[in-house]
Amino acid sequence: MEAQDVRVLLIEDDPDDALLMEKLLVKSCKPSTNFLIERADRIEKALRSVIENNFQLIVMDLTLPDGKGLETFEKIHEAAPTIPIIICSGLTDRTLALEAIGKGAQDYVIKGEVDQRTLEKVILYALERRHVQEMKEEFVGMVVHELRSPLAISRASIELLLNKVPESQQRFLSMSIESMERLNRLIDNLMEVTTLELGKVKLTKGGMDINALARDICASFEPLARQKGLELKNNFPAEKVITSIDKDKITEVWMNLVSNAVKFTEKGSIEMSIIDKGNEVECGVSDTGCGISEDKLEKLFGKFQKFRSEGTAGEKGTGLGLAISKGIITAHGGKIWAESRPGQGSRFLFTLPVR
Ligand SMILES: Nc1ncnc2c1ncn2[C@@H]1O[C@H](COP(=O)(O)OP(=O)(O)OP(=O)(O)O)[C@@H](O)[C@H]1O
Ligand SMILES: [Mg+2]
Repeated sequence: MEAQDVRVLLIEDDPDDALLMEKLLVKSCKPSTNFLIERADRIEKALRSVIENNFQLIVMDLTLPDGKGLETFEKIHEAAPTIPIIICSGLTDRTLALEAIGKGAQDYVIKGEVDQRTLEKVILYALERRHVQEMKEEFVGMVVHELRSPLAISRASIELLLNKVPESQQRFLSMSIESMERLNRLIDNLMEVTTLELGKVKLTKGGMDINALARDICASFEPLARQKGLELKNNFPAEKVITSIDKDKITEVWMNLVSNAVKFTEKGSIEMSIIDKGNEVECGVSDTGCGISEDKLEKLFGKFQKFRSEGTAGEKGTGLGLAISKGIITAHGGKIWAESRPGQGSRFLFTLPVR
């Protein structure tokens, strides 16, 4: 049987430690697998590598020349949420390593203490856990996909009946159709979030003026904002801002943020903004709506997070829009976050690298 290649990223700045770890990794490798190890000695290099390559495992130190502590782990984990990470720390970083586990690292080993057998087990378990997770997500994807056809058939049948029943009964069928539309949206969103979580999304990137894109989106929301009596403003630079993006996917992110802003704002205004920061572009959507409390801000980008907001019609959403947006921005190598003052409004921001 041919050995299976496993691409490993080793993030370590000390050349001796890196060499030792590399040797240990090679020894810990099962005969059925073949580790292809790439090394990065800085976070910046590691982040670039993570976006460009398809790694299956990351082994990393927490102290690097361009970053220290938990933040180092968080940056890498955010850029590669689906790849298992094993922390390889010095003795003094033990507490930090434990905290990293709480934030999603698979395991940790102590430099100089870890032997081949322990590392072998740690790696095996990390890869296996990831595999099980992938199988679960693939299963969800498959089930959700299978729901599409029966739903489409039922909907077509009900539509056919709609004009054939007495008017007094039509509203029941219309309610049915509405529910089916909602289910359809849920299916589409679930499919998308699953693909993003599995790291299987394929971006079709091209050079694009994000300014022009945002202007079109702003114009398309004008009627909806006016209908609600909201002012829709924009703060875009005069010049073009060329980014390498998947146009449809970034449109989806803007649309979700602006539609959320409209949905959760009863009076005042919404502003779309773009700031060209040289190496990255920062895009934002702010509103004067109900806002989000601090404890909810953390959970906001998770799946199925819907918080009942007073006086809004937020119940109709699937609660997947922000999870999808986060997946899309992460896949582009950017970041997305939110700031808010409950009762006063919220601001959603995302960055995209500019090359
Ligand atoms: N601008 C905002 N102001 C206040 N709360 C918000 C805002 N944007 C999002 N939220 C809160 O975050 C939750 C999750 O948003 P998300 O876009 O993921 O889902 P949704 O809008 O409810 O559903 P969908 O996007 O599928 O229509 C919302 O239900 C709402 O409680
Ligand atoms: Mg939404």
